Formats: sequence, C-alpha cells, structure tokens
Amino acid sequence: MGEEVQTAIHRHCRPFNIPNSEKKSPYESAKVMKGKEHIYKIAPYEPGKPIEEVKRELGLRDVIKLASNENPLGPSPLALEAMKKHLEEISYYPDGHCSILRHKLSQKLGFPPQCFVFGNGVDEIIHFIGLAFLEEGDEVLTVEPSFIRYDASALLNKAFLKKVTLPNFQYDVSLLLSAISERTKVIFLANPNNPTGTFLPQEGLRQLIERAEGKLLVLDEAYFEFAEDPAFPDSLSFLKEGADIIVLRTFSKIYGLAGLRIGYGVAKQETVRAIEHIREPFNVNYLAQIAAVSALDDEEHIRETRKTIWEGKRYLYRQFEEMGLFYLPTQANFIFVDVKRDSREVFQALLREGVIVRTGDIFGCPTFLRVTIGTREQNERFTGALKKVLGGVQ
Ligand SMILES: Cc1ncc(COP(=O)(O)O)c(C=O)c1O
Repeated sequence: MGEEVQTAIHRHCRPFNIPNSEKKSPYESAKVMKGKEHIYKIAPYEPGKPIEEVKRELGLRDVIKLASNENPLGPSPLALEAMKKHLEEISYYPDGHCSILRHKLSQKLGFPPQCFVFGNGVDEIIHFIGLAFLEEGDEVLTVEPSFIRYDASALLNKAFLKKVTLPNFQYDVSLLLSAISERTKVIFLANPNNPTGTFLPQEGLRQLIERAEGKLLVLDEAYFEFAEDPAFPDSLSFLKEGADIIVLRTFSKIYGLAGLRIGYGVAKQETVRAIEHIREPFNVNYLAQIAAVSALDDEEHIRETRKTIWEGKRYLYRQFEEMGLFYLPTQANFIFVDVKRDSREVFQALLREGVIVRTGDIFGCPTFLRVTIGTREQNERFTGALKKVLGGVQ
C-alpha cells in the first residue's frame, strides 16, 4: 500500500479512533436515519449464548450448550466428508436452484421438483412467506407459546398477529378452528411445537386443514424426525391430497448442520412460484447444498442421533421426576421443564456451572427452562448442575 494512501486512511480514521479535542468532526451532530416505524415492534432475535462467550465472560474452560436444540453428536460425517472434497469450489457461486438437492428430495418424498423451495435455514422461508403472502391488515394465526420468528414475519408486513393459547401446553383444535376468521391469511404452526415439544395429531390436523381452506397453513416440522408417538401426523399425505399447506423442514437439527443454514419447504407449485418471486438468487450457500445432499443419505448418523435423543429424554424424565419438577413429555429434542423459580436466576447459576440452557420468559413462561437433550454425559452434567443450583436458589 502506498504511503500516501496509508496517510489518507490514517487521517480519515482519526476522528473515530483517537479523541481529538482540537478538531471536531463535521458529522458529529448529523442526524441518523431511523428505520421504518413498524419494524420497531419486532423484537430482535436473541440467540442462545455462544460457548466461547460464556467461557470468556466467566473464565470457564469447559462449557456445554444445551440451548439451541442442535445435534449433540455433531454434523453428519458423510456431510463433512463431502464438504471437504468440494471446499476448493467455493470460488463459484452456488447453484441458485439447488438442483441436486431438489431432485434428491423430489425422489425421496415423491413430489415434483417444482414443489420445493430452499432457504438459508427455515428462518428465511418463514421470512419469505410473510413477504410473499401478507399485506397490511391481514391476520396471521399462531399459538402461544411458540417459535417467535412467526411474529416477525407477520409484523414486518404489517399483518395483525392473533395468538391462540395452548391449554396445558397442548394444541386445542377447537380453539384454533374458532380463531380462524375471514381476515386470516396465514397460519403458522410448529409441529412438534417449540418450546413445548407437544404436537397436533393427524385428526386435529385434518380438521384444521378443512376449516382453513383458502388460507395458507404453514407446518413447521423442524423437529419432526425426533417424534416417537405413532399419532404424529403424516403432513405430506395432506399435501398429496391437494391441501394448501407448506411443510418446512431443516438440516439444522437431526442432520447437525445448523451452522451452514439450510432448510426447505414443500408445497403446491403455485405456492412455491409465489415465493420464487422474492427469493434472492443465491440464498443457499455452496457447501450447505453439498452437505445437505450427503446428510440425507447418512442413515447411521440419523439412527444414532435418534437413539441418543430418545435415551436422553427418558434419562431426563427420570431425573426431573426425582427432583419433583413438572416437565412436558416431548416429541422433539428438547424438554420444557418448570423449575419453580425465576428461570433467569437459574439460568445464570447454571452458566456459572458451565451449562447454557434457555429461559422460559422469552416464551412467556418465566419459571420454565428449555433444555436441549444432549449426550448421556452432557445430560448428567446438566442434571448435576441443576440439582446443585436448585438447592442454592430459593
Ligand atoms: C420451530 C422452529 N422452526 C424453525 C427453526 C429454525 O430453523 P433453521 O435453523 O432451519 O432456520 C427453529 C430453530 O430453532 C425452530 O425451533
């Protein structure tokens, strides 16, 4: 870099880096552009605390994260292998159409390739749905407590949010049916639900689909691979029958690829076509596509993950029962448990023990914690810490 340029950069940076009492920046009192008024109604997403941050803040060496429902066994080994092989190709733009993955899913699930839409995580597809279908004054129906990105999708598009409660944390079909109005445009349901882990079974789903004719029903199945209950619905069978639903699935959970950001939706072609109008051209990155294709074939990783989660869930149930804590039997890879204290305090105390979980206050349940089911070792570490903490926090 030439000396002249360096000096210019240095001069330019001075007002920001070095307090200079002699010279005032002409921009100091300049007005800052405000965002659009309605966006301030959307609460910025607060992700689970990263492991490195907790280590640094608390001076801890060994920290486990059971906060964001990631796969405790890590990524699919087949996906890792495939990515390593293709690393050097990242100088190319990704395939904007996700062709290989599209065809693979088309064969696996039995829908034409045009019925799939891909996103930088399911989060992005939820965002796309709002952009593509919602207008000011439309009504969006969802439940409470549930995944909070549905709120953002509605509010960003000035739609009105209507939330139905979950009596005893269970889906109540009659409440959902009676909440559907003329103005309802989109219905977002997580099945199994986050944070409760409870689910809407086949018959309830059928009733809802029948009543919701003319609306778009979004079934977010981010955790469906962990469902054990035989009553868990086969949502794709309704899509095959022609229902106007979009089923969302992710590679972040059972496939262990959360850091790559890739998810998909399967729906009627007209629904996908609408979303294609607003999708950015290269929204799903190159390595994510490579990894997802291989992860779909990694049956051993899927089997081992399920086994770990199902065994871990029974272990945690027993531990909670011994501790006298109420918990919700789950169909997902996390458990919502009532610690009967301010969960923020319990969360902080668990952090000091090197265990990161999620507090229930963000879901309107201030005495609950949501804990991701981990490996046996992680679950033991968590329950050991919880026993210690609950003994101390009054
Ligand atoms: C119900 C639900 N849907 C979607 C997502 C986001 O999935 P993705 O990582 O594919 O964006 C999550 C993540 O925690 C979730 O809990």
